Amino acid sequence: MTRKYDVLITSELFQKAYDILKDDCNLEIHKKDRPMTREELENSIKNKDGILTMLTERIDQELIELNPDLKIIANCAVGYDNINIDACNKYNIKVSNTPDILTNTTADFAWAMLMSLSRKVVEADKKVRNSGFYGWGLSDFLGTDINNKTLGIIGLGRIGQAVAKRAQGFNMNIIYNDVNRNKNLEEELNIEYKEFDGLLAESDYIIIFVPLLPSTKHLIGEEELDKMKDTAYLINIARGGIVDEKSLEKALKTNQIAGAALDVYENEPEVSNGLKELNNVILTPHIASASKATREKMAEVAARNLLSGLKDQEVENIVNPEVLQEG
Ligand code: DGY
Repeated sequence: MTRKYDVLITSELFQKAYDILKDDCNLEIHKKDRPMTREELENSIKNKDGILTMLTERIDQELIELNPDLKIIANCAVGYDNINIDACNKYNIKVSNTPDILTNTTADFAWAMLMSLSRKVVEADKKVRNSGFYGWGLSDFLGTDINNKTLGIIGLGRIGQAVAKRAQGFNMNIIYNDVNRNKNLEEELNIEYKEFDGLLAESDYIIIFVPLLPSTKHLIGEEELDKMKDTAYLINIARGGIVDEKSLEKALKTNQIAGAALDVYENEPEVSNGLKELNNVILTPHIASASKATREKMAEVAARNLLSGLKDQEVENIVNPEVLQEG
């Protein structure tokens, strides 16, 4: 019998994911209810054949160089900006992610954010809990309609498309911006392409779905916020670094825009006190994909990717196929 693979798993998974790995792997599992520290990662990565990571682990070149013989890093997320792909390519390490399965769950959550924002659900809940509800009031918690408003989608990937489909049910005018204009999708989803500045100026609700790349870092900053309507809302459930958080905080404080909903932060898990003090922002702890069924599937897919990578079989969700090329 061939030896079992030595594997690091940086967070507890669900049973079905362990079942996929247990026959072929010796598992070292980080069981604490916080992400691994840098020191723990440095110690644990050595002598492993593969690792299954969460988006909370920063896998940079220095870390990879502690174990350049890794066969695969299987990230349990669709985003993989936490992994230095160039360094993985340099050492022929496969990297995989978990796309598709979380599309609908994440799109649903985008709508939870949009609806909570527009109708001040979180603020109103606080009022009731704090015994501030004295009876129906004609001008209490006046929100903004969703129907017939303009939704601006930045990034028309899988999740952006799923959000657009849901918006049709609300009779929204849907506009989008993406580095790749897609005329077929425009027709299919009844949406209109806009230049970036046009989208900022026309949208009542803006939702961001681009990945975090050097080109999308601070895509929304002071200048862009300035171009938005003062009645508009911004929703970011993609990655914190896409929005310049300091500028957003200022725009919310001065009511330059009406409100925001954030599931992700520039320095996660830190959230500035400035943001926490504001009533016109909803803050959630990176839970857009967190339905039980979806998170279980993400763990299973990551486990399957890991095992395929270890066994030199085809990895379904490889993100750096260039490492497979000979020579
Ligand atoms: C992802 O998958 O990238 C999300 O941020 C977490 O599910």
